[in-house]
Amino acid sequence: MKIHVKVPATTANLGPGFDALGLALNLWNEAEFACTSDSSISVTVKGEGEKRLPKNADNAIAQAALMIYDLAGKSCKGLHIDCINRVPLGSGMGSSSAAMLTGMLGANGLLGNPFTDEEILKLAIETEGHPDNVAPAMLGGLVASIVHKERVVSMRLPTKANHGPIHATIVLPDFDFPTSQARAILPKEVNRPDAIYNISRVVLVTEALRTGNMELLGIAMKDSLHQPYRLKLIPGAINALEAGKKAGASAVALSGAGPSLIAFMPKEDAAIGAAMKDAFKDAGLDARIFELGTSYEGAEVTIV
Ligand code: HSE
Repeated sequence: MKIHVKVPATTANLGPGFDALGLALNLWNEAEFACTSDSSISVTVKGEGEKRLPKNADNAIAQAALMIYDLAGKSCKGLHIDCINRVPLGSGMGSSSAAMLTGMLGANGLLGNPFTDEEILKLAIETEGHPDNVAPAMLGGLVASIVHKERVVSMRLPTKANHGPIHATIVLPDFDFPTSQARAILPKEVNRPDAIYNISRVVLVTEALRTGNMELLGIAMKDSLHQPYRLKLIPGAINALEAGKKAGASAVALSGAGPSLIAFMPKEDAAIGAAMKDAFKDAGLDARIFELGTSYEGAEVTIV
């Protein structure tokens, strides 16, 4: 028996929803899990990270899988995992969360599902630490998360599903900006006007995504808590954000902790990504463009 797992990319924060909101994107990592009898852990990787990711038990997907074996009180003789990675690493598109969920869901499937989806989600959030990526990757769509009595509560919010997808273009500059660094540079405390700025806007971002009101999205998708500090450290990012809007995007935000930017628009428009890429180029950075839809589906597990 083999277990096939698909997990989507995600974009966290959506401007003012810092550490709270996330949205699944239509870009999927896939992995196939098989138990083996040769007492080794082996991984193959095609696509993103092909050259740099570990192919043994050090691989993040393998580690997450082994954690599930441990927690289930089972030992794993041998495990082989074939990965097809489409979500770029360290991009602000949720690759670590996708890896964590992939490993946990794959092992859980091989073991006959000792853990419920809810338990896997909780474990992945506790281990990975970013509910705003993990929860939408698991549940699909737009998800808001809060911490309540040391427990994460994640809720899927309605989006414009019945009226067609909202288009998103991600532009990923070739710039190393690890999440740990992107968090370390943020002030430890926020002032009241900045808090009010974000609280008021994030409500309207969810409403704009629910109704598909792109004009409202453009007004509301602004941030005072993290983007001002992060954008200036990514060469060309401030100009790329403005270039996207000037080229017709309804709203542009940093995707997660960056370094990628995400532009939202009512219909596909290649000129928007191109304008943003040009802005990064002017700052000396090459950039990749991902034309994506949002995904109303979350992680999927099938027996093959
Ligand atoms: N909300 C997190 C941050 C991103 O902005 O640091 C999680 O990937």
